[in-house]
Amino acid sequence: MDMVRNFHMAQGLGETSYAQNSPLQKEVIESVMDITLRSAMEACAAETVSIADLGCSSGRNTLSVVENVIRAVCERRREATQQLPEFMVFLNDLPSNDFNTLFSLVPEFVQKLKAEHDDGGGILVSVAGAPGNFYGRLFPSSSLHFITSFTSLHWLSQVPAGLLNNEESVNKGNIYMSPASPPLVATLYFERFQKDFNMFLRSRSQELVVGGKMVFSFIGRRSHDSHEKINECLLLEALEKSLSILVSQKLVTEEKLDSFNLPFYAPSTQELEDQVYREGSFTIDSMKQAHDWTIHEYAPKMLSNFSRAIIESFICHHFGEEIIEPLFETYTQLLCEKLVAREDIGWSKIIVVLCKSAAS
Ligand SMILES: C[S@@+](CC[C@H](N)C(=O)[O-])C[C@H]1O[C@@H](n2cnc3c(N)ncnc32)[C@H](O)[C@@H]1O
Repeated sequence: MDMVRNFHMAQGLGETSYAQNSPLQKEVIESVMDITLRSAMEACAAETVSIADLGCSSGRNTLSVVENVIRAVCERRREATQQLPEFMVFLNDLPSNDFNTLFSLVPEFVQKLKAEHDDGGGILVSVAGAPGNFYGRLFPSSSLHFITSFTSLHWLSQVPAGLLNNEESVNKGNIYMSPASPPLVATLYFERFQKDFNMFLRSRSQELVVGGKMVFSFIGRRSHDSHEKINECLLLEALEKSLSILVSQKLVTEEKLDSFNLPFYAPSTQELEDQVYREGSFTIDSMKQAHDWTIHEYAPKMLSNFSRAIIESFICHHFGEEIIEPLFETYTQLLCEKLVAREDIGWSKIIVVLCKSAAS
């Protein structure tokens, strides 16, 4: 599947939309808010502050980040009895993201911020969509002060080339880099991650001003071992199993399943650090890993909708829309069983703050 043209979270505001089914991503944002605001206050000293959220999707999560950043920067200026800045906010995602739903939330968001800061002049907040692939340039040189990206960078730019060798899958029976995958699969995924992440850093280094900062958080592995089981994969494991049940029910062919792989890679902190040093434009202000153990607190149906909102576009594109309902019914059922059996289910996220250094 061509990620840039076809990958998107479930659109709209309905029952199965991303907007209604992203509580885990909201938790991530809340848990990294303090470090995000501290970094924003350090980076945003200009008269016109330009910030970008990359992989913004279409719910309220992205606007809550921006809202808090703007509030914190204004607070800092007030404390220093300085004039409030004007804000230029760019919301980036792939072109097929539901920007219409997101934009429909913008007037209320801007109005709220204006009302809060209406003490002689108010503030100006301009919001613009920036559709495009973050594994490449999106903005003019030295035009941004602060960048955020949450729960997005574990998506690669594409499925690693080489997973299908002359139509033959080298990752048979698996739909991601799972502990059961052969070593070649881990190598192919790692190489794709290296290329993508280098491109991401290189692009951002050109777009940020010197001293500009970038805060991002996404799913990571807890050890350097590429075969480590990342707990979040319980959700992927169950998806894999559900698809194989559909094969046994003849709703999906075995060949179709064998040729399906997700462009998902959860790096270790060591791998990330290596990439940052190798690219050379950033200093690492902070890099932490945190383990959240909340997945089992959610009802299986909620978790099923959560996964569906993220991966439905992959499934429809590869297998066809007709398998969506039976697939996610099976998936919900499997999650009910798995969640009863394993209470210590969670996911591990990496939180990184980078600062654009002078010499790059
Ligand atoms: C799980 S959502 C996270 C959305 C939001 N940041 C949040 O925390 O709720 C991941 C988003 O990253 C976007 N994304 C993935 N790869 C991308 C790329 N190469 N360029 C831009 N956006 C991308 C997806 O389209 C999706 O909207």
